Amino acid sequence: MKAFPFVYHNPKEYWEYFQPKNWLEFLLEEINPTFSLSTVKAKVMEIRSESSDSKTIVLRTNRHWKGFVAGQHLPVTVEIAGRRVTRFYSLSSSPSEKYPTITVKKQKGGLVSNFINERLKVGDVVELGTASGDFVLEKEVPNKLLFIAGGSGITPIHSILKTLQESNYKGQAKLLYFSRFKEDIILFSSFCELESKCPWLEIKHVLTDVPAEGFDSGFLTKEMLNAFVPDLSERPVYLCGPAPLQNSAKELLKGNKVISELFLLPNQIQTNFESTGPKEVVLLQSHKTVLLKGEKSILEELEDQGIYPPSGCRMGICHTCSCKKVSGSVTNMQNQSISDGGEENIQLCLSRADEKLELDL
Ligand code: FES
Repeated sequence: MKAFPFVYHNPKEYWEYFQPKNWLEFLLEEINPTFSLSTVKAKVMEIRSESSDSKTIVLRTNRHWKGFVAGQHLPVTVEIAGRRVTRFYSLSSSPSEKYPTITVKKQKGGLVSNFINERLKVGDVVELGTASGDFVLEKEVPNKLLFIAGGSGITPIHSILKTLQESNYKGQAKLLYFSRFKEDIILFSSFCELESKCPWLEIKHVLTDVPAEGFDSGFLTKEMLNAFVPDLSERPVYLCGPAPLQNSAKELLKGNKVISELFLLPNQIQTNFESTGPKEVVLLQSHKTVLLKGEKSILEELEDQGIYPPSGCRMGICHTCSCKKVSGSVTNMQNQSISDGGEENIQLCLSRADEKLELDL
């Protein structure tokens, strides 16, 4: 439910406002911010610094939390300047820990990651969604495993390794983890502890930008892989990190089974197209007509005009921004497909207006 001041943009929102369920939610929230009829909410119990620009957030969830499988991610919603904003983060704890954790690295221009690192406090309440994702171990865990991670891609792997530790894993696992510089290594002390307690685990930290004594440096190469993992062909590979690492790893691992997870940041989707003139966009439910430039996503251009449709990940994953296009043409900025066939559901965070549009918004 909206916090004061109650500002609504369309009649559907007024209708929602008068629903008894929403009033009950409001009252429960007044009694205790983590109370809810159905929403998973969590209180921040502790915040730990993990590197020069990342923090682990320890969360005490309410009774609606259904848990997760190691390696999965979940939507996290926070309120920033009166707006609810959602992003996806991997869980970094093992599922058996009393309090689940997320570990969040600051990103350039990252609205939520920067908020979490700089302004979230112990005692604050965040909203969580259902954990999901296929970056998880198979039921029959292989005897040999290789993990390759870059930057914040390490967090689901941390969860998986802790889970293997708890299950008394009897195989052999190796982790090749790329960070920019020594202070940038996320969860460094936890990995040192894991490696010292788990004889089956070998970790190699590689620094890509600033070399440091005692650490390897450089980018992923065939030679590096062969030296660290002589039995490479026998290992399924769990790969999580930014696109350049994923691309070079997949090229080098053509003979291996690769399970990968890629988080595209909102600013990694191509935006800033050249405008071909203003486009009239009619918002049918709100009885509004606005002019968009067609240079950025419809979501961003509506927000620029003070209109905030529901949104979440802003990268095409959660479908929170899905909306019916009644007429007109849009281009999907991720795969360049064009929707010009009349009525169709589109994702506002990925779609750019090509011409006059009517949206069920
Ligand atoms: S906001 Fe998540 S798909 Fe658009």
